[in-house]
Amino acid sequence: MHIQQDQDSIIIRCENSLDYLDISEINTLAFSSPNEAKLVELIRKSDRYLSELSLVAERDGKVVGHILYSYIDLVGQETFTVLGLAPLAVHPQFQRQGIGTALVKSSLEIANDQQEALVIVLGDPQFYNPPSAP
Ligand SMILES: CC(C)(COP(=O)(O)OP(=O)(O)OC[C@H]1O[C@@H](n2cnc3c(N)ncnc32)[C@H](O)[C@@H]1OP(=O)(O)O)[C@@H](O)C(=O)NCCC(=O)NCCS
Repeated sequence: MHIQQDQDSIIIRCENSLDYLDISEINTLAFSSPNEAKLVELIRKSDRYLSELSLVAERDGKVVGHILYSYIDLVGQETFTVLGLAPLAVHPQFQRQGIGTALVKSSLEIANDQQEALVIVLGDPQFYNPPSAP
């Protein structure tokens, strides 16, 4: 998937094992902590990992952003398995250029195509539901 942004083109594609080091670095830098990079590694090893919804954003051949979803269970009288969005990270040098938005939009399109019923996210409403959102 290509997203044209002004002069720059962002490619959104599924992650592969060659991206793992870059993804780890981006998460560590973006969150100023190794915890989210470790979470990504744990999810990848689990049966909750969704390869088709683990995406990277590439600009000029460089991985600059990453998004990952995993299945989580909402447990009550019934159990519903839904998508959890986390973590989402953009390299600090590439933030505020629309890359996070592109990763969210592309991944939600895939989730929608897969007829996933619900996505849960904990995050800043300024990013996930900005005033300019339709
Ligand atoms: C949050 C994050 C993924 C956003 O990625 P990004 O590529 O910078 O986001 P975009 O450029 O698509 O931002 C679109 C809009 O969202 C809002 N926004 C972006 N980053 C934001 C932030 N950190 N906090 C609040 N609002 C934010 C702004 O309104 C922005 O529009 P503007 O630049 O015209 O003001 C990125 O800042 C990041 O990696 N942060 C550290 C990790 C993190 O917090 N991840 C999310 C966990 S819920």
